[in-house]
Amino acid sequence: MIGRLNHVAIATSDIKKAAKIYRDTLGAEVSGEVPQPDHGVTTVFVDLGNTKIELLEPLGENSPIANFLKKNPSGGVHHVCYEVEDIIAARDRMRAEGATITGTGEPRIGAHGKPVIFLHPKDFVGTLVELEQA
Ligand code: CO
Repeated sequence: MIGRLNHVAIATSDIKKAAKIYRDTLGAEVSGEVPQPDHGVTTVFVDLGNTKIELLEPLGENSPIANFLKKNPSGGVHHVCYEVEDIIAARDRMRAEGATITGTGEPRIGAHGKPVIFLHPKDFVGTLVELEQA
């Protein structure tokens, strides 16, 4: 069911420093900072051609990545995002498989303007998984 790897998201408490590492040390193409108040994060996208790295820094109170950074103060891989053709069909299949979908379970519009759901890490090898309708 899942298709391509859309992005790997890396949480950080210092997005400027993280962007500099990807741009200057690793020599990657890095976007500007994009505040996403609806999602409680500021994002920087690193374009790798075949996929993207999404750098995430908490924005505002109750950021969904605040707890993760409490547990991982130096940052780390927060989630992976796989593309699916049909988010509703994917959601129904995950429900039938007994997987836990975070939040209400209803798809919401993600950071790329496309519908997404998040699957609880306990069912997926300890990794938070985002499914995005391609
Ligand atoms: Co994501």
